[in-house]
Amino acid sequence: CRVPVVLHLDHARDYKLVMGALRHGFTSVMADGSSLPFEDNVSLTAKVVEAAHAAGVAVEGELGYVPRAGDPAVGGGAGAPEGYEFTLPEQAEEFVARTGVDSLAVAVGTVHGLYRQAPRLDLERLAAIRARVPIPLVLHGGSGVPAEMLRAAIARGVAKVNFATELKH
Ligand code: 13P
Repeated sequence: CRVPVVLHLDHARDYKLVMGALRHGFTSVMADGSSLPFEDNVSLTAKVVEAAHAAGVAVEGELGYVPRAGDPAVGGGAGAPEGYEFTLPEQAEEFVARTGVDSLAVAVGTVHGLYRQAPRLDLERLAAIRARVPIPLVLHGGSGVPAEMLRAAIARGVAKVNFATELKH
């Protein structure tokens, strides 16, 4: 049987890496400027969108920062770390309008890696982002998030959930 797939470059922080992926046939790329200041994130992402769209390739952007579970600032891995920026709905609207991304990864309480305590998702924030952002939303840090929480996120506009840790284990 035939299964439609995309070949997606995850978390590309470097423009040249994206160019290499485009040359080698990737059909989807992520421009990850989430650790950059807002204006720098907009610049990197808009530049990637311009090149990728010219090649017919879709681009995922990220606004707000999804940390790693092992990061000291995350503490017990509760998913609501101090000092890490969750996505601001009004900034997300501006980001999408200025960059032209096809999907947007948001920070609403998930972390990459293994949770040590049950994650808490800021579903109100997710709904507020959804109200302002018309494109599909992406949830990174899907491993360990209970199914009913994922369903609640999907009901609020999440169209792609990233899993890596569970697959590796
Ligand atoms: P997990 O570490 O929760 O599997 O998240 C993976 C991820 O978001 C990759 O982009």
